[in-house]
Amino acid sequence: MDRKRKKRSWAEPYKIKMVELLKMTSYEERKKALEHAGYNTFLLRSRDVYIDLLTDSGTSAMSDRQWAGMMVGDEAYAGSENFYHLEAAVQKYYGYRYMIPTHQGRGAENIISKIMIKQGDIVPGNMYFTTTRLHQELAGGTFVDIIIDEAHDSQNTHPFKGNVNIEKLESLIKIYGAKKIPYVSVATSVNMAGGQPISMENLRELRALTLKHGIKIIHDMTRVAENAWFIKQREKGYQNKSVKSIVKEICSLTDGATMSAKKDALVNIGGFLAMNDKALYDEASNMVVVYEGLHTYGGLAGRDMEAMAIGITESVDDDHIRARVGQVEYLGNKLLHAKIPIVIPIGGHGIFIDAKRFLPHLKQTQFPAQVLAAEIYLDSGVRTMERGIVSAGRNKDTGDHYYPELELVRLTISRRVYTQAHMDVVAESIQEVFQNRKKIRGLKMTYEPKYLRFFQARFKKS
Ligand code: F0G
Repeated sequence: MDRKRKKRSWAEPYKIKMVELLKMTSYEERKKALEHAGYNTFLLRSRDVYIDLLTDSGTSAMSDRQWAGMMVGDEAYAGSENFYHLEAAVQKYYGYRYMIPTHQGRGAENIISKIMIKQGDIVPGNMYFTTTRLHQELAGGTFVDIIIDEAHDSQNTHPFKGNVNIEKLESLIKIYGAKKIPYVSVATSVNMAGGQPISMENLRELRALTLKHGIKIIHDMTRVAENAWFIKQREKGYQNKSVKSIVKEICSLTDGATMSAKKDALVNIGGFLAMNDKALYDEASNMVVVYEGLHTYGGLAGRDMEAMAIGITESVDDDHIRARVGQVEYLGNKLLHAKIPIVIPIGGHGIFIDAKRFLPHLKQTQFPAQVLAAEIYLDSGVRTMERGIVSAGRNKDTGDHYYPELELVRLTISRRVYTQAHMDVVAESIQEVFQNRKKIRGLKMTYEPKYLRFFQARFKKS
C-alpha cells in the first residue's frame, strides 16, 4: 500500500455536546451600544456582542470531564480534597514544590510583589504586563523592560520575540547591583508583544546569569503550554519532545510562578502562586489569608480547584495545543493573505493588528488602536481590544503617557469556543474595515481612571 500521503488538515480534538446561542445585531443597535460604552469595548454588554474576541481569559469551554469535576467539589473551608488534587497537578505537570491557590493571576502577583519587592527595587522583565507591573510598582519597585529589541517591531520575524536581552540585564546588575533586583519577571508567551515565545536556550542563559548573582526568576506561566508548542516547532532538539516535557523543563529553570489559570489551564476563574523555596512559601501562605482566603482555597470554591486540576492535565496535551494554536494561525494567515498589517510571527493566543500601519493618518494620541477596535465592533459585532497607548498607561514619575512602540488591536481567540466559520466571518469584517480605513477619525479621552485605565476609560470622536 502506498503510505505516502499529502499533509492533511488538522481538526479540533473534540466534538460539541452543548451550544450557547449567539445574537446578531443591526448596525444601528451596535452604533447605540458603542456610544453608550464610550468607545471602549470593555464597557459593552456581552449581549450586544456577536463574536467575542476581547480576551482569552476565563472564556474557555470546559470539557465534560471538567464539568463532572465541578460536581465533586469538596466545599470544606480547610483542607478540601480538591486542593490536594490541584497541588498534585501543579507538582506533576509544572514541577513546583509548593502551591497556593488565588482567585486569579493578579491575586498571586499581589502576594509575590508584596513579599519580594522592597521600596526602590528594580524588577526587570520581558515586556510589561498591565496588572503585573502595577503590582510591582504598588510594592515600591520599578519595572524595567529587558526584552530583545525585535519584540517592539511588529514586522520582525525573529522566532523567539519573547527572549530576554541578556546584556540589558547585565548592565542593570552593574548599575544597580544584584541586591536591588529581587527577581527577574519572565513571561512565557509574552502577551503584550503579541503572544511571542521565549526560547529554552535564552531561558537557560538567563538562569545561569541569575544564579551567578543570586537573583530569582519568577515565571508568569499564564500561557506556558503555548510557549512550549512554539519551542517544539522552532527550537533545535525539541521536535520529538512532548509539550508536557517542554513545559516541565521551562518551569525547572525558574524559582516560582504566578498563574492566571483562566487562560492555558482552561477554567473560567482561578489562579495560583507556586514556588520551590519553603521560606517563601511560608511567607506567602501567611499573606494569602489577608488577601485571598486560607492557603488551601485562596478565594476559590473546591469545585473551581477541581476543574483547574483537570484543565491543567488537558492543557499540556499535544493534540489540544496543536489545534488551539492552529486555529489562531488559520485566522492570522487569512488576514496576511488580505494584506492586513498584523504582528508576525503569528502568536499563540491571538492575532494582533498593527493599528499604526492600519491607520497611518492618526497620531498615537488619537488612540488608533482604541478607535480601530470600536470600528470593527461597529462593522460586525466582533469585539476586540486595544493593546496600545491606552493599555500602557502613564509613567508613575512624570505623569505622561507611555508611548509604546506597539499600538495594537488584539483579536484574542478563546480556547475550544469558536469554529473555523467564525474565523472566516471575523476575517471578512476586518477586510471591510480595512477598505474604508481612510475615513476613520481619532478619539479623545473623556474619562481616565487612575489604575489600569483601559478597562474603564471613556472616549468620544474627535
Ligand atoms: N499575566 C498575563 C500574561 C496575563 O495575560 C494576565 C491576564 C495576567 C497575568 C493577570 O491574570 O486576569 O487572572 O488576574 N490577562 C488578561 C488578558 C486579562 O486579557 O490578557 P488575571
